[in-house]
This record gives sequence, C-alpha cells and structure tokens, in this order.
Amino acid sequence: MQICTLRGLVLYYGIMNDKTLPLDRAQLEDIAGRFGTPFYLYDEGAIRANVRELGAAFSVFDGGYREHFAVKALPNPYILKILDEEGVGADCSSLSELALCEKAGVTGEKIMFTSNQTPREDFEKALALGAIVNLDDTTHIAVLEEIAGRLPEILSFRYNPGPGKVGNSIIGNPVEAKYGLTRPQLFEAYGLAAGKGVKRFGLHTMVASNELNLDYHLDTARMVFTLAKELKERLGISLSFANLGGGVGVPYRPEETAVAWKDLADGVKRIYDEILGPLGISLEIKTEYGRPITGPYGYLVARAIREKHIYRDYIGLDACMADLMRPGLYGAYHHITVPGKERAEKTQVYDVVGGLCENNDKFAVQRPLPKIDVGDLVVLHEGGAHARAMGFNYNGKLRPQELLLREGGEVVCIRRRETLDDLFATLDLGGLAAFR
Ligand SMILES: Cc1ncc(COP(=O)(O)O)c(C=O)c1O
Repeated sequence: MQICTLRGLVLYYGIMNDKTLPLDRAQLEDIAGRFGTPFYLYDEGAIRANVRELGAAFSVFDGGYREHFAVKALPNPYILKILDEEGVGADCSSLSELALCEKAGVTGEKIMFTSNQTPREDFEKALALGAIVNLDDTTHIAVLEEIAGRLPEILSFRYNPGPGKVGNSIIGNPVEAKYGLTRPQLFEAYGLAAGKGVKRFGLHTMVASNELNLDYHLDTARMVFTLAKELKERLGISLSFANLGGGVGVPYRPEETAVAWKDLADGVKRIYDEILGPLGISLEIKTEYGRPITGPYGYLVARAIREKHIYRDYIGLDACMADLMRPGLYGAYHHITVPGKERAEKTQVYDVVGGLCENNDKFAVQRPLPKIDVGDLVVLHEGGAHARAMGFNYNGKLRPQELLLREGGEVVCIRRRETLDDLFATLDLGGLAAFR
C-alpha cells in the first residue's frame, strides 16, 4: 500500500452539490506526482459523514434499519470495510461481489443477495456466507431447495409491480423489466415458502435509478408497506423486513438538489405509521443505495495532455471512456472543474475527450469551461459510484488506480493501476512460439 500525507488539508462536508473538492490544486499535484494520473480519489471522511447522517435519519424506525451498500457501485474491499465499520451491510448481485464482501469481512445477514438469471455457484456462495437470499422468481424456490437440501430460515422476494408503478425515466417501465415476481406470483411464493418451513421473510423492490424526486421514493414505500399489510391479512405472514431498494439520485448538475436523508426517512416513517401502525406491524427497513452513498465523494482526476482545434475545440485527457463510461454510454452529465481555475471565467466551449477510437469517448460535449492548458489537472465529479466499476479494456486501455483520502489527510492506494501483465494475464503467451 502506497501512502502519502497531506498537510493543511481542507475538507468540505457542506452542501453536496456545490462541486467543491476536498483538496486544492497543490495537494492534487502532490498526489499526482506520487501516484501519476489518472486516478480515482475517494473521500473517506465525507463517505463516513454521509452514512452516519443516513443512519441517524432512519433511526426513527422501531423495527430497526440497515443500509446494504450496492457493491456494484464501488466494488472495493477497503470501501466495504469502511462502510461495515459504520454499520452498513452489502447488496450483492454476483459471486464475485459476494467473494469481495467475504474478503472485506462482510458476511452473514449483513449481505443481501439480489441476483437474476443466477448461476448455481452464485446461490451456493450466498448460502455458504449466510447471506439473505432475495429471489427473482418463483421457480428459484425449487432451485434453492435442490442446492441446499432445504430452504434457508430467511428468504426474501423481489416484487415487480408491472403496471402498478410507473418506472422512472432511467430504469424504465416495470412492465418491460425482467426483474422480480408479479403480484399473484408473490403471494403464491410466500405461501409456498412458508409451507416449506421458511421462518422469516423479507420483501424487496427496486424501481428507480438516479431519481431525485422525493415523492417517487415515498410512493415506492407506500407500495411496499401496502403489500406487507396484505401479506399479513391474506396469508398471516409478518415480514421481518421491507427493502425499499436503491435508486436515490445524486445531483450530477450543480443546479440539482440532493434528496435529504431526513426528509426521506421522515416521509417513509409517516407512511409506515399510517399503513402498518394500525395493525401493530413492526418490521426492519432496509435500503440498498449505491450512488448516493459514495457517488458525490469520488472524483476522477486526469490531466489534459493534448488540445486540438478543428471544427470544434477539443481537450484530450489521459483518461478516457474506458475509465468512466457514463457520459459516452448515455450522455450522462459529470461536472468538470479545473483545479486552480475554479473562479476563472468560462470563456471557452470544449469537447473534453479521451483517446478511445470511438467518437462517443467524450466526457463533455460543447461544455463552457475556463481556458484549459495542456498540463492542467481536470476533475470529473460524482465519480464515486458506477464509475470505475463500469470500466473496460477496449483499445487495450488499462484501468486506473483508486486512491483513498483518509480522514487524517493521508492518501493511500486502495487499488493499483492495471499493467500490461494484467491485461495479458488471460493469454498463454508461452504457447505462442510453438503455435503454427
Ligand atoms: C438490485 C439493485 N439494488 C441497488 C442498486 C443500486 O442503485 P443506486 O446505485 O442507484 O442506488 C442497483 C443498481 O443497479 C440494483 O440493480
């Protein structure tokens, strides 16, 4: 593990979308000098402060609360360990995410396993770790029974409301989504599993992605609690927990506003009291947020290495779409700042690009920015979730390193940059000489 210490560190835990950086230009240059660019930088103090605020907001539930961080958003065991220390569990969707949690010491019911088209070995691993298995289909009951000999003591099902809920613009319409059980299937599944000896049950849904509208999430809570009530009334099943899924958005754009944890928790509690209170039902609330947990507290720091002026003005970075795919993939906005030029006037209009042989390898298109000079550091904000995790190796690009800004100000490398050896590791180069 490489370490460097920064003195005179200024940390900003203020408004989420003010697009400030926890470090100034000189500090970033110091890090770049030691580790090279590009790098992802995650802010441990800000992540911890955020999940503490989340936990405090949701502490109003008498049946308890647990956030299960969506590992896919930032699959790094150091981050998982930090979150575990803060009482945050994990939401896994695959064998490798389960294995990563195991490495980080996150096991048992701290893990919820929500998968689809699940291979046998993934179920085996989830069961071996004692994770809460969240089934995506009624037929998976028999699969699980066959694998383990009997069903686990606790089981959860993923609900797809179909026409009962309009999907948000990013995740799409639930009717077209491959996930989860229909309403009739759900009742059938709980009945079947209860008959086979399952003792504790959970209910899960996931119907949003990057949604900043508080009411959308409250509407989801209403849907889930109404189902919990019906399960009690129709089948006599008292749920142990309701998992409201992920999908709370982050303000990628400076003019957007974050969902306040307290507003969300208070709103969910109001609906919980209204629907479940009269029946005396008390259950644990779970969430599996990824993006709003780490997203705003991670940055992709790159260097401008080329500029080019043809029909448009281009700034070329030493990072590319293979390091951060969202802008190229779906035109997602990531705010860009140039350390040291935060207050400079935005006199230029640039396409900020990477070096892939793909014309959609653009971090920003026709973006007003201060004049960028070759050699400047360029920071892409909201890089803490669904960012490096979505990286790839097209054009043989090597994926970047991940650095952690620790609470005390030291910077540690929590994942080194890839090397050519990593890239070629799956090739048997020794066989080449004899190959004709
Ligand atoms: C099942 C499931 N849970 C949780 C998440 C996390 O969503 P987000 O990072 O938007 O909070 C996802 C994201 O794809 C998901 O598929």
